[in-house]
Amino acid sequence: MRNFLTHLECTACGQRHDADVLQTLCTSCGKVLYARYDLAAAAKAVSPADIGPRESTMWRYREVLPVRDGAFEVTLGEGGTPLLRAEQLGAALGCTELYIKDEGKNPTATFKARGMAAAVSRAKELGAERLVVPSAGNAAGAMAAYAARAGMPAFVFMPDTTPQSNILESRIAGADVELVAGHIGDAGRAARERAAVSPMFDMSTMKEPYRVEGKKTLGYEIAEALGWELPDVIVYPTGGGTGLLGMWKAFGEMEELGWIAAGRRPRMIAVQMVGCAPIVAAFHAGQESISPWENAETVAAGLRVPGPVADYLILQCLRESGGTALTVTDEEALAAVPEMAAAEGVFACPEGAATLAALRKLLATGEVDGSERVVLLNTGSGLKYLDVLG
Ligand SMILES: Cc1ncc(COP(=O)(O)O)c(C=O)c1O
Ligand SMILES: [Zn+2]
Repeated sequence: MRNFLTHLECTACGQRHDADVLQTLCTSCGKVLYARYDLAAAAKAVSPADIGPRESTMWRYREVLPVRDGAFEVTLGEGGTPLLRAEQLGAALGCTELYIKDEGKNPTATFKARGMAAAVSRAKELGAERLVVPSAGNAAGAMAAYAARAGMPAFVFMPDTTPQSNILESRIAGADVELVAGHIGDAGRAARERAAVSPMFDMSTMKEPYRVEGKKTLGYEIAEALGWELPDVIVYPTGGGTGLLGMWKAFGEMEELGWIAAGRRPRMIAVQMVGCAPIVAAFHAGQESISPWENAETVAAGLRVPGPVADYLILQCLRESGGTALTVTDEEALAAVPEMAAAEGVFACPEGAATLAALRKLLATGEVDGSERVVLLNTGSGLKYLDVLG
């Protein structure tokens, strides 16, 4: 059997939903659905040793990915990115075991490729004809590329302040691009208005259940690269939270599969920008959900998400992992771009560089110890931000 997907489960009310028809949010309570697998059967069918020689893309973990029939796999070779040991940067910071997971190496140059590869494949398999997404930018570029590869029409809605690269890459891949005044929430409203008159499947972050499945392969890859062990700390630039939640979901699945030891998960640390930090505010106020951020403004376009749909899951994950949430300024993130590039040769996007600025603060406060094994998630390439960085 190719995969062990059994059903979708609501993360809030627990209701089961059919995984073999198109779904968005829970039809009972409106919250996020997660894909569930028969992991006991998967553990019998496949082991880390079987996975070792497979292709170096995220599809090496296909038993725990949602696509049932390989003919529907829409791939541009996503995943399989390096976990780079950052010795020089580590020495400068006083951090002895520092790594950068470099997602700039993906098709469309960000980690959004993983989520869209899974979601576009599954939407095609389940019969969707046209796809729509509101996006801070990189998800639109990724969806445009994968929709083109799948032969499906794509409609993308982005803030008019989105980096040029995202507008261009979407148009070049043939997507219908609409620029909207405001932020991703406003783009979402415009997308829903269009979908109401002209049916299309909504691929919005966490409203569509399979983007997080693609993103979870980050967690599988980090574990595999460390010999099926996990780091002590993962620092993640948080917008809608798919990568953070995906990794956390992967750790749970790998424990159940018996691929990693139970009870040894990393502290998950969310970084947001001073100009848009709803998760950081809610985390420190002890709340279980966020209050939408007013007048969100930051150069890190992917982190300009004032009202993440999965707020309650992100906050649960941070607390359950013993992690935290903190902000950095635009200036700190922008200064960290050349710092990471000059120390390690990794030209990060501002969102990815924000994790370095955050780590410096965490080391100064003692929230991260210099002897811990730390992974910074660089979510994309700085080459997509030349108009912002130049
Ligand atoms: C480069 C980059 N980093 C981080 C993020 C945040 O990702 P998520 O929404 O999965 O938290 C985004 C989202 O647009 C992004 O484009
Ligand atoms: Zn529900």
